[in-house]
Amino acid sequence: MAQRPYIVGNWKMNGTRAMLPEARAIDRAAQRHMKVEVAVAPPYTLIHAVHREAEQIGVGAQDCSPDPDGAHTGDISASMLADAGAKFVILGHSERRQAYGETSEQVNAKAVAALEVGIRVIICCGEPLDVREAGKAEDYVAKQLQASLPAIEDAGEKVTVAYEPIWAIGTGKTATNDDIAAMHAMIRELLNKRYGEDQSADVRILYGGSVKPENAAEILGTAEVGGALVGGASLTADSFMGIALAASETEEG
Ligand code: 13P
Repeated sequence: MAQRPYIVGNWKMNGTRAMLPEARAIDRAAQRHMKVEVAVAPPYTLIHAVHREAEQIGVGAQDCSPDPDGAHTGDISASMLADAGAKFVILGHSERRQAYGETSEQVNAKAVAALEVGIRVIICCGEPLDVREAGKAEDYVAKQLQASLPAIEDAGEKVTVAYEPIWAIGTGKTATNDDIAAMHAMIRELLNKRYGEDQSADVRILYGGSVKPENAAEILGTAEVGGALVGGASLTADSFMGIALAASETEEG
């Protein structure tokens, strides 16, 4: 794969300024793993502070508004994120799709808004347990992605996809290697058709859902897994960088 493995921490609604030393520790450790691209998405309130601490890691957000400005109480626009130092934004996370009924069309509009101001996007997809058990996971994810992926020419540098089966998030359960490989292969095919093989080759497909230092090597060694989107295990430098280390060793191996 042309791009470096991408290890992204999604801090979700965790973290106050007391987390800044942890961010510094992640940044220092990332300087020892240059073969891996490490990034964190703290809550909005910490983006600027983490950005100021970061010399090596990328700093991003967990959502943005599709609108540029105006009367949208409580929302944050993509240009505000850029102003705070964000370089990417996670969009369409299942927690937002579930809690706020966010649709793939809205995710697409948010992606367009982010890309317009030079912010890269991580587009999330993933099926609930009943869909997996009904044998319809690939169809479900394909539909979600078809509608969520923004139409752009140069997707390679700017778009990342994260496959996160909902039943694996925060549960300690992970999909089997075969299931991950099959889903990621389907996603790659979809990206090839959507963006062309040249651009698609640079779009990394991350896996997310209970990724930890203990299971990272196996997951990251699976075909078409270009990195990980990490929740709980990204909250301490120790566990998060354990995953980055596994990614670095996968690169060397
Ligand atoms: P966990 O790593 O805590 O399962 O969360 C995964 C996730 O939702 C990352 O976006």
